[in-house]
Amino acid sequence: MRYYPVFLDLAAQPVVVLGGGRFAAEKVSALAEAQASVRVIAARLDPAIERLVREGRVDASRRDYQPGDLAGARLVVDASEDTAINRQSWREAEAAGILINVVDRPEQCRFIAPAIVRRDPLLIAVSTSGESPFLASAVRALIERWLGAEWGPFTALVGRVRRELRERGVPLAEQTRTYRRLLSSDIRKLIRSGEEVAARRLAASLSHPAGRRAGRVALVGAGPGDPGLLTVRAQELLADADFVLHDALVSPETLALSGPAAQLEDVGKRGGRESKRQEEITARLIELAREGHLVVRLKGGDPFVFGRGGEELLDLIAAGIEVIAVPGVSAAIAAPAAAGIPLTMRGVASSIAITSAQGGDSMARLRELAQAADTLVVLMARSRLDEVTAVLSATLGAGRPAAMISQATLPDQHIVTGTVGEIARLAQTAGMAPPATLVVGDVAALAAAGRQELVDLGSFG
Ligand SMILES: C[S@@+](CC[C@H](N)C(=O)[O-])C[C@H]1O[C@@H](n2cnc3c(N)ncnc32)[C@H](O)[C@@H]1O
Repeated sequence: MRYYPVFLDLAAQPVVVLGGGRFAAEKVSALAEAQASVRVIAARLDPAIERLVREGRVDASRRDYQPGDLAGARLVVDASEDTAINRQSWREAEAAGILINVVDRPEQCRFIAPAIVRRDPLLIAVSTSGESPFLASAVRALIERWLGAEWGPFTALVGRVRRELRERGVPLAEQTRTYRRLLSSDIRKLIRSGEEVAARRLAASLSHPAGRRAGRVALVGAGPGDPGLLTVRAQELLADADFVLHDALVSPETLALSGPAAQLEDVGKRGGRESKRQEEITARLIELAREGHLVVRLKGGDPFVFGRGGEELLDLIAAGIEVIAVPGVSAAIAAPAAAGIPLTMRGVASSIAITSAQGGDSMARLRELAQAADTLVVLMARSRLDEVTAVLSATLGAGRPAAMISQATLPDQHIVTGTVGEIARLAQTAGMAPPATLVVGDVAALAAAGRQELVDLGSFG
């Protein structure tokens, strides 16, 4: 069945509800809420319906349905739970061309009622076309959590701005830019914290050319690859962004979370192609922000862990650009976690060092950190693995547990465990592809046991 969804304006329209039980009470109350002119026909009425009758909000005929009762109705709900009445009401409604819903009888329904999320004036209807009321209410609960109560006043505010812009004759393209600015602003945050006046003031300034807000850059961590590890803030910013400038390591599934209006620019290294120079990237960020755009600079893992986020932050601040930093789950944390390796563990490890295998002084640094920390995490180690593990073997002994995790949290995730003396050979034999992270320390020996458990846990997903 493929339904055509509509919202009906039933104000003062004649609607008949057959039946006076609990189901009928729910329908009567929702219809009264929509200001329909409701007539309930039933020998016995639920106390909730009695109350609405007493308040003068619905009429009642205290008897069973009789053919002809539906004459003149716009809409009928048969909640009588009586098969004989169901048959007759369906026949009468069909003959008269009146839309009818016979509760719990999909084959006798010209319309069905969706599950509703109310953030008036925003109204979201959810339907599984009758396949699963359970799923419909589960999806409703998800949306309710996602769209907080602030969305009601926010929608009303955007509506007011829209009327104003139309009265002023603002061209449609400029109107759309204004709505986008409202959506990506802090207005919802202000409403949430009860600062309605400040919210209205901000909306007014964003909808007038003179007070138009300058662009912003968000330095956002995309996590190690699995889009499920993106923060809620990162998802919101991606959805609102005008431009997304991303690294090559960011997965296509993550990029797919960008809003339909977002323009994507790949500024990373891919297929041997040289990456854009850092100054070029920063210049582009500044250019776009100065044009008034919301720019998301999306980086693998966390922007401030070997991600050059620090340099970009300083350059943007120096250029007077407003910057937001949104942390991400770094591969330094996610890769060991994916292998079931705890970075610290009571009695085993209580300090961690995170470093990279790149740079002229990296081997000296590795030696010092290996001595100083219980667990050592080495990023960008794949291309220099022989050299890195030789240094670590000399410092810690070749028998120290080690693990190499490539493409952590992605479908091609690969984990190799062993000792620091053999891990380079094992990674080579396994044909591990970048990006990969090396973990060295006693906790790495826990990888195998942990991994089995993780596989089992994975089956719940
Ligand atoms: C330039 S650094 C960027 C690190 C990033 N900012 C972070 O916080 O994860 C790239 C290195 O991160 C590690 N890495 C990134 N994604 C990974 C993944 N999915 N699995 C394993 N290691 C990863 C690799 O060591 C890779 O060489």
